[in-house]
Amino acid sequence: MNVLRFDSESAWVQGVSTFWRDRLRTNPHLTICLPTGLTPTPIYADMVRSVRAGQASFAQASIYALDEYGDLAPDDPGRTRNMLLEHLIGHVDLPTDAFRFLDPGIPDIEQQCERYDAAIGHSFDLVLLGIGRNGHLGMNEPGSSADSPTRRVELHDTTIASSARYLKHGNLPRWGITVGLKPILASKEIWLLASGPAKADVIQRTIAGEISEDVPASLLRRHSNCSVFVDAEAGRLL
Ligand code: F6R
Repeated sequence: MNVLRFDSESAWVQGVSTFWRDRLRTNPHLTICLPTGLTPTPIYADMVRSVRAGQASFAQASIYALDEYGDLAPDDPGRTRNMLLEHLIGHVDLPTDAFRFLDPGIPDIEQQCERYDAAIGHSFDLVLLGIGRNGHLGMNEPGSSADSPTRRVELHDTTIASSARYLKHGNLPRWGITVGLKPILASKEIWLLASGPAKADVIQRTIAGEISEDVPASLLRRHSNCSVFVDAEAGRLL
């Protein structure tokens, strides 16, 4: 696991987006799996700026949403699909049919998940991940096995409470659908992104603690091409 530390949040944003522009230049057909949450938002803003400035293009790339909440209306701004559209996809040159997402409204979720895994070819070129304070990746909560496929999951209480940061109502989702750890760990390259003081403790456990399903992010240490991008605050305990 490569640890890349940046002195400030803006240097961290620039660091990630510089690598991302490079990957798109090297492989315009990049298949990318993306999270939402507050962490990647400034990076997405910088990629929008890069596309507008002609420094990057998603015209031949494919983007897959990492997860989706259950129980929210299709137009709820807190849905992963809608957040990705709002912060990145609605403003870049990605063709409409090159954005794939999970739909909790489809009754046969198991079949949908099998199709999603098959559509991605069971791995991505590049996966970007945020990290929950309990070490979750996507919605792979503590206890998720390294072998877990894309599937329906029940959310932990702390994850449900954190979802309130994205939602403008008190109707918090209790379950979701997530890309599993198996396709994530099978991917060619993984970037774990963390910024701010609230992530310092879990980043320390991820990098220096035991490799264990109890902290799903620690399983990334078994991957041969995983980089952790931290700003000074998230990397404070390293
Ligand atoms: C959301 C996702 C989650 C978040 C994590 C951190 O698609 O993948 O695992 O990355 O909960 O959320 P923030 O970035 O809001 O602290």
